[in-house]
Amino acid sequence: MNKFISFYLLFIFFLCFSVTTTNSLTLPRLSPFSESKTTEYQNTKTFNLNEDMQPYFYEQTLDHFNYLSDSYKTFKQRYIINFNYWGGANSSAPIFAYLGGEDDIVNTLGFMTDNATSFKALLVYIEHRYYGKSVPSFNASYGYLNSAQALADYAEVLLYLKDSLHAQKSPVIVVGGSYAGMLAAWFRLKYPHIAIGALASSAPLLYFDNITPASGYNDVITRDFQETSKTCYETIRNSWFEIDEVASKPNGLNFLSKKFNTCYPLEQPGELKDYLGNMYQKAAQYNDPPTTTICEAIDRASYGDDILSRIYGGMVASYGNKKCNVNPDKYTGAKPFDRWRWQTCTEIVMPIGIGDSSLFQPKPFNFTSFAENCKKDFGVQPRPHWITSYYGGQDIQLVLKRFGSNIIFSNGLRDPYSSGGVLNNISDSLVALPTVNGYHCQDIVPAIESDPAWLVHQRNTEVEIIQSWIKKYYDEVNI
Ligand SMILES: *[C@@H]1O[C@H](CO)[C@@H](O)[C@H](O)[C@H]1NC(C)=O
Ligand SMILES: *[C@@H]1O[C@H](CO)[C@@H](O)[C@H](O)[C@H]1NC(C)=O
Ligand SMILES: *[C@@H]1O[C@H](CO)[C@@H](O)[C@H](O)[C@H]1NC(C)=O
Ligand SMILES: *[C@@H]1O[C@H](CO)[C@@H](O)[C@H](O)[C@H]1NC(C)=O
Ligand SMILES: *[C@@H]1O[C@H](CO)[C@@H](O)[C@H](O)[C@H]1NC(C)=O
Repeated sequence: MNKFISFYLLFIFFLCFSVTTTNSLTLPRLSPFSESKTTEYQNTKTFNLNEDMQPYFYEQTLDHFNYLSDSYKTFKQRYIINFNYWGGANSSAPIFAYLGGEDDIVNTLGFMTDNATSFKALLVYIEHRYYGKSVPSFNASYGYLNSAQALADYAEVLLYLKDSLHAQKSPVIVVGGSYAGMLAAWFRLKYPHIAIGALASSAPLLYFDNITPASGYNDVITRDFQETSKTCYETIRNSWFEIDEVASKPNGLNFLSKKFNTCYPLEQPGELKDYLGNMYQKAAQYNDPPTTTICEAIDRASYGDDILSRIYGGMVASYGNKKCNVNPDKYTGAKPFDRWRWQTCTEIVMPIGIGDSSLFQPKPFNFTSFAENCKKDFGVQPRPHWITSYYGGQDIQLVLKRFGSNIIFSNGLRDPYSSGGVLNNISDSLVALPTVNGYHCQDIVPAIESDPAWLVHQRNTEVEIIQSWIKKYYDEVNI
């Protein structure tokens, strides 16, 4: 094991991005965890698993699919191993590989540790190229940042590990959530000789092309709020028009800035509407805060019973009574390069729009204007059909039934991204585990005391299914 030298101790905590804020309701971020949770977990000593987690670097090929001289350049890709639970190569004990998504890998921690003991599993976390510490040190083009290269990276690292650990017979299960959930499913389909199964949590892999209606994402948010409180839903729905109307009056923006106690005077109503819209998205996607928290405040009308006062009350309930709201950072010009946005502007083109009967003001997805923004910001032309050309997705029931196996598609139906998830069983081993009350990636965060029974049940079912895959594999290869 001395090949594997530990460099330093790491703090592991949960990541979560909140949805991005820009001048018009933009595509929400895909990420397993919500921003406020990050700080929460960071501050919780029990999640400090640093001593168990050993970081390593793999000399990774820049371009797996070309033989041009630049393709042979390499960069250091980080992966982290936890050997604590592993039964070892001699007993062909399994390897759980957590595939990184659009974030630093130390911000990502799977549910894997909870059940590692019973599986005697080796835990491996592999960081996605161009994120965290796995960024090429030379001036590598962002053209090499894409899902196919990332999957090939994971393949190389896993084959290297199996070889180095003499664990050729150890079955590999890949796990991922959100974008990384799609990667886990695609990895199983593309590299069946490396992974015997995949757990794809909250993976909206059908939110491409025209497979899922563009309004799907926001329709789920709408339903969440309707189910929480009809009056709250009506208030929010009417608030957008109220904000527009007030803003259009003389001194209206000034009035709104005071009403919502903004950090800087509003320059356009969109700033406020985006801020509020992102807040409702976050509540629906991450239960952060729960929609009931926002709606109780809106219905209670502690700040006055006109629409704007109610909405302000919802905002205070959501973010607390802050010194100021909405626009804390004055836009200063240079924005850091947004790698995830680059990915959505190239291949991960998810057509998310807002339909007519929505919590929000209607805004159909307009590919032309989407593409214009990508061209302006990154000089790239999106390829909206590439994901379905390369990985499929159309008629997934029929196609995967014929050749796929061993993938769990888990979803929480309160999560807006579940609208693009696989929600029906495809075969005995292509299993959908939707939960009515679940939200984004809830099943892959570690278990806690207060978890509801349906979540415990969902996780136990996942464990049982994975156990059955491993048992079948052992039977077939005579282990
Ligand atoms: C694994 O098996 C090899 C070869 O049979 C043996 O040399 C080695 O000691 C075993 N390792 C463990 C940890 O049992
Ligand atoms: C898996 O982990 C959960 C959460 O800690 C636990 O309740 C369950 O019993 C574990 N299952 C097995 C088979 O270890
Ligand atoms: C990096 O590459 C880009 C695109 O090829 C180029 O425009 C830029 O000047 C390069 N930067 C450095 C520091 O070499
Ligand atoms: C879509 O956006 C383009 C470019 O901004 C615009 O010209 C066009 O009218 C829009 N289409 C619809 C249906 O709104
Ligand atoms: C799919 O099958 C599994 C059993 O393998 C079952 O637990 C689950 O509820 C089924 N999913 C749906 C959506 O019917």
